[in-house]
Amino acid sequence: MTRCLVTGASGLLGLNLCLQFSPEFEIIGVSNTNSLTNIPFQVVKKDLKEPAAIKNLIDQYKPDIIFHCAAIANIDQCELNPDLAFRINAELPGEMAYLSKRQGIKLVHISTDAVFDGQKGNYSEEDQPNPLGVYAKSKLDGENYVFANNPEALIARVNFYGYSITGKRSLSEFFLNNLLQNNSMLGFTDVFFCPLIVNDLVDLLHEMIHADLCGIYHTLSCEPLSKYKFGCMIAERFSLNSDLIKPVSVYESGLVATRSLNLTLQTQKLSSTLDKKLPDQLSGINRLFALYQEGYVEKIKNFQAN
Ligand SMILES: NC(=O)c1ccc[n+]([C@@H]2O[C@H](COP(=O)([O-])OP(=O)(O)OC[C@H]3O[C@@H](n4cnc5c(N)ncnc54)[C@H](OP(=O)(O)O)[C@@H]3O)[C@@H](O)[C@H]2O)c1
Repeated sequence: MTRCLVTGASGLLGLNLCLQFSPEFEIIGVSNTNSLTNIPFQVVKKDLKEPAAIKNLIDQYKPDIIFHCAAIANIDQCELNPDLAFRINAELPGEMAYLSKRQGIKLVHISTDAVFDGQKGNYSEEDQPNPLGVYAKSKLDGENYVFANNPEALIARVNFYGYSITGKRSLSEFFLNNLLQNNSMLGFTDVFFCPLIVNDLVDLLHEMIHADLCGIYHTLSCEPLSKYKFGCMIAERFSLNSDLIKPVSVYESGLVATRSLNLTLQTQKLSSTLDKKLPDQLSGINRLFALYQEGYVEKIKNFQAN
């Protein structure tokens, strides 16, 4: 059985990935805190910023694949603590790439659409990144270290939403929680992106591993939309009141300095390599609704240790 070491196993992506992969693969999830309980796979507590942490994990568990989903993904936390951001988002994946290359381990490194500045939009893998802010810069450094140390690694630039253990890690949870509580909220009409539901992202990563892809792939929905439209699609699918979402320009929000406006990325490289159409927005929102109906929200929250 293929053994996978998954960092960030308590995170939005890492936990969903472990849950979806665990019947087929042997999963060893890595978490920094004791935030998980009653989970159907093995979890190891390890602080990955410690110098030999990843080497010790690899030596002990001898994985066939590493999915590096851990990150300092909170933009404000990165600005407040740039040393930590560069340690976890850049140096650590560089070390993983070095070790995985030497030991013949497949490395899947998770990067971000935010390596681009959002001025042009419709970016291809060939376009030159221009990251804004500490988070984005640290993630681009991570890509560069990974590629330099292990050109056979797979680097997926992503943006995703879905259900998390805290119930508040994703943009879909922000809209859904507020809609369910009848709270009004802002939706930006001029910020564009191509998010995937995290469960579709995991399915794609599975196919990418089977196809033994390496290098950079934009792993996103084929369909761009604004954040306002995204919120409205959730409201409509869940039969909630979309009038609670106030359409505004990001320029009216005071957040413009930290936002990249157009993070739409081309996905043709991945769709032609896998010979399939990537999910559009309606199919993702339909899956979000189907998971809600089958009790996935409660299931995932029950894995949170108190
Ligand atoms: N969410 C998005 O839409 C989005 C967009 C673009 C790119 N990405 C990328 O996708 C990946 C996954 O993001 P996410 O949203 O799933 O992140 P997340 O929910 O914030 O989870 C981050 C994970 O990293 C772990 N971690 C942080 N510091 C650690 C340390 N010192 N040692 C060990 N583990 C540590 C956390 O563990 P604890 O919980 O135990 O602290 C947590 O499991 C990241 O690479 C992120 O940059 C995400």
